[in-house]
Amino acid sequence: MQHNWKTIIEPFKIKSVEPLGITTREDRLRVLEAAHYNLFNIKAEKVLIDLLTDSGTGAMSAAQWGGIMTGDESYAGARSYYNFEREIKGLTGFDEVIPVHQGRAAEKILFGVIGGKGKYIISNSHFDTTRANVEYSGAQAMDFPAKGALDFDKPAPFKGNADIAAMEKFIREKGAKNIPLCVMTVTNNSLGGQPVSMENLKGVQALCLKYGIPLFLDCARFAENAYFIKLREKGYAQRPVREIAEKMFELADGAWMSAKKDALVNMGGFLAMNNKDWSAKARQMLILTEGFSTYGGLAGRDLEAIAIGLREVLDENYLHYRIRSAAYLGEGLLKHGVPIINPPGGHGVYVNARKFLPHIGPGQFPAQSLACALYLEGGIRGVEIGSLMFGRRDAGGNFLPAAMELVRLAMPRRVYTQSHIDYVIEVFGWLAKNKKGIKGLQVMEAPAILPHFSAKLKPVK
Ligand code: F0G
Repeated sequence: MQHNWKTIIEPFKIKSVEPLGITTREDRLRVLEAAHYNLFNIKAEKVLIDLLTDSGTGAMSAAQWGGIMTGDESYAGARSYYNFEREIKGLTGFDEVIPVHQGRAAEKILFGVIGGKGKYIISNSHFDTTRANVEYSGAQAMDFPAKGALDFDKPAPFKGNADIAAMEKFIREKGAKNIPLCVMTVTNNSLGGQPVSMENLKGVQALCLKYGIPLFLDCARFAENAYFIKLREKGYAQRPVREIAEKMFELADGAWMSAKKDALVNMGGFLAMNNKDWSAKARQMLILTEGFSTYGGLAGRDLEAIAIGLREVLDENYLHYRIRSAAYLGEGLLKHGVPIINPPGGHGVYVNARKFLPHIGPGQFPAQSLACALYLEGGIRGVEIGSLMFGRRDAGGNFLPAAMELVRLAMPRRVYTQSHIDYVIEVFGWLAKNKKGIKGLQVMEAPAILPHFSAKLKPVK
């Protein structure tokens, strides 16, 4: 007889541990004041549960640490590079594999090759660094999220999808020759870590074929996306996740990846494609800024760990635990009446701070205020995605309210256990009861570029 146990357990045992930063509320108040209410300025050792990002913060497996020891550090033609290349070719089917030190390096190189003034890059949603690199090249980054993606309260299975009709309208307006690339970000990080369906990917592919526009995946979280397809899309329940992932890549002409997410490593990335002209130009840029084409800014051991991580991440027991733990956090918050982007994403939960804290006005950074309260009361660090991060300002330098005020609770991979998550839920329960006491913030000083990293704030009187 097959038991159907309900408890979802972490599908690993722990071989190596690191102490958490345990502090008192008084400590944290001092830390917060010294950091000017900016959580980027806090030493990590003063954080208890760090949900700032899921990028590069995961735990590697014993097999990956083994790979670290056997990594080949040859400058050119290292064995580890060929392991890396073989793994990526096997998964994605792309012939040209270019290692880079992280995702944004791939973006800088790619848009250096294909971007430029007068061009447009179209996407379901560009991640911030993607947008910044597109714009740095002189091109414009245009987002076409699916209808309903911004209706945070209403669950839907594939809120990461692109609005294909809106994309087509734009292509006709601007002319396909001015659009060198379409990018599908899987999962869609900017809008809640929501997945893209295979049907939508196929639709985008058909659109791109019709207009002769190459399609790339920004595949930082491709395995989480593939698992959501297995769970939620008709016809995929019986398919192995690896096969679904391969199918996703088959629909595209290329991809880039921040390996710091679904390759389960602390540093690394790649750019891969079939276009020989683009890849030759990209390798020239690579040698200029990252390193020789068989290491691209990484150590041989990093390449080895990525090759192993790309296999491990497609283990369905791992993915089941991964997606289930984000859902568990989301469900826990909803039970306390905390509004989130519903359903929870693949790599974490996004709290709708504007809705949670209606007493904090739009000019008083509700999401940053919530992120600070979460740290003060519970030692938990999330990240603001709101007026401070978007950083739009009027002529007088005053911040303008953003379209959304979110706090992202991103979950590092294989790092925290269910009791850590229970603790986060408990802290939110307390905050929900005592939220009237959370005060808004005002900016004292902030730089012009990327203000959220170094802005100084204080509570409003
Ligand atoms: N694309 C997506 C979808 C990302 O989420 C990120 C990074 C990048 C590209 C850039 O990769 O950091 O390796 O240079 N996201 C991190 C985050 C920073 O916290 O969501 P990178």
